This record gives sequence, structure tokens and C-alpha cells, in this order.
Amino acid sequence: TDMANDVAELTKPEAGRATPDMHEVIVRALRYEAPGVLSLELAPTNGKLLPPFEPGAHVDLHLPGGIMRQYSLCGDPNDTSRYRVGIRSVSGGQSSQFVHRKLRPGEILKISTPRNNFPLIDADRYLFVAGGIGVTPLIPMMQAASARNKPWTLLYCNKRDADAPFLDEIRALGGNLSLHSSQAGTRLDVQQRLGPVEENTVVYCCGPEGLMTAVEEATAEWPADTVRFEWFTPRSRPADEVSGSFEVVCEQSGLTVTVPPEKTVLEALNDAGIPIPCSCQQGICGTCEVRVIDGEVDHRDSILSSSERAANQTMMTCVSRAKGARLVLDI
Ligand code: FES
Repeated sequence: TDMANDVAELTKPEAGRATPDMHEVIVRALRYEAPGVLSLELAPTNGKLLPPFEPGAHVDLHLPGGIMRQYSLCGDPNDTSRYRVGIRSVSGGQSSQFVHRKLRPGEILKISTPRNNFPLIDADRYLFVAGGIGVTPLIPMMQAASARNKPWTLLYCNKRDADAPFLDEIRALGGNLSLHSSQAGTRLDVQQRLGPVEENTVVYCCGPEGLMTAVEEATAEWPADTVRFEWFTPRSRPADEVSGSFEVVCEQSGLTVTVPPEKTVLEALNDAGIPIPCSCQQGICGTCEVRVIDGEVDHRDSILSSSERAANQTMMTCVSRAKGARLVLDI
């Protein structure tokens, strides 16, 4: 394709080897989207296609200096000659500051294979709730919903409507858009809008913690798994949370490992020579998920839904612990 030729001209691939889960990409474009928001267009350096992805997926973006962070893919899933991510400038955020201040088109970066903890399930109708840059994972979902002729509404909250990233693009997708600006005083009344259960409708929400917890509370009566969240930063934990010590029995390797209060399951297992793949180490990416055979998990991640937690079938070993004295894991 023309695009692949462009890539070939622009890049001189480095000799450095990417690990199997990683892909080398070139920053083909940096685009101003809204105040404080840039999008990056990332193309493969080898002129081939990037791995396919589904709406809701994210990648780890590796920046120079060992900086790494997860970003949702907000480009067209039908075009894997490039990915797009949207990045908001966060004061004190290493990765966003690097992208906003230093990154230039032409730079070569590494990204992981896409992962999806926020898949679009089949429904008659969709209700999307976004706060600012939290709209990014929802853009391919709205596109997919429109392509399948499923009606959808986006409740889109921003400080000012003029700050809403990707607004023109979202308008063109043909759904029902409802803008809420805190500055204009049209703030979304979450309880009023989401309180009554809507039949055959699935809610997808991504945004700041205040919005997510408000949606969570307002939809407490909705059927399990009809309300889904994507956390970019870990949800707050109770200040008085204590972590005890417990045992992990590794069913496959036959080892029993003690997890002391100051270590995570992931760390204790790594120290014992049982490496578990991991990425964010904050309970938001899903890389370190392990199957649980026995024992009750104290789930501390920001990924599993309440019904998934109750099912007790998997756990995120980077943050979650045991409720009792012992867990048996399928590792
Ligand atoms: Fe990301 Fe555990 S490493 S959820």
C-alpha cells in the first residue's frame, strides 16, 4: 500500500530486537485534537500490518527512558496499517509530558500487542458515558455500533464543550450526542440519566474516577455485566486497608510460596522463580491475570466486574491478595 511505502521511506529500522509481544512503530503524525490533547498516529516500521484489535483494546506505549503507560486504541480497527492513541497532557505525568513536550514525528517507539479488558458485547442499544480523554476507547465502539445499525447515545462530559476531544469526528458517526459542560452548568445528572434500567442496553463508561463511581452507584440496579468500565488509573483504595501474609499454592509447579504483607503475589512468585508476565503493576492492564483454583481472593484490581469478582475464577496478581490464609492458583 501507499502507506507501507511511506513507512519504508521514513524508517531506518534499528538493529535492536523487540520481544515477541512488542512491535516497533514510527510516529507518523502528532495531531492537535483539543486543548491539552494530542493524538499519535503509529505505523509499523516493517511495512507490514499491525496486529488486529477490537474496539476497547489498549496497548502499552514504551517511551525513551523506560517510561511506559497504557493507552486505548482510538483509530479504525479496520485499518491495521496504523494505530491511533489520544494523549492528554497531565501535569506530573511522565509519559504525557514526554509526548507533549519532546516527541516528534519520525521517532521510533515500541508498543505491546493490543489487549482488551473492555470488549464491546452484543446489545440492542448502547449508552456510552465519557469524561474528556476517556472517550478514546469508546470511539471505535461508536463506529462499530453505527456500522451494525445499533442505536447509541454518548453522554460526553468536559469542562467546556470546546475542550471536548474528537468532537467533530464523533458527530460524524451518527449517534445521539449529549454534551455536558461543567463550566456551563449542564453537568450530567448521573443518577437522573442512568437510574432507571434500560432494557437490552449496555453502558460503557470511561473517564475520571468521580464520573466512574457516580455511574457505578447510579447503575447498581442494572443487571450484572450490562455496565462496563475502563480505568486508566487505578481506583482509590480505602486508606485503612491492611495487607496480611498468606500462602499461594502453585498447582502446576507444586510449589508453595509465602506472600508477606510487603510483597505482592506477583513479586513473591517472581522471587520464587515462577515468573508471571506483567505490565502496569497497578491492576489496570490485565497482563498478570492468573486462574484461581481454590481460596477466596481479595480483589484489588480495577478491571474485573463485580460478577467476575464474585465468580472468583481469576485474579490480578500484581495487586490482589487472599481473603484467607491460602490461595491455590493454576500456575
Ligand atoms: Fe497490569 Fe497486573 S500487571 S493488571
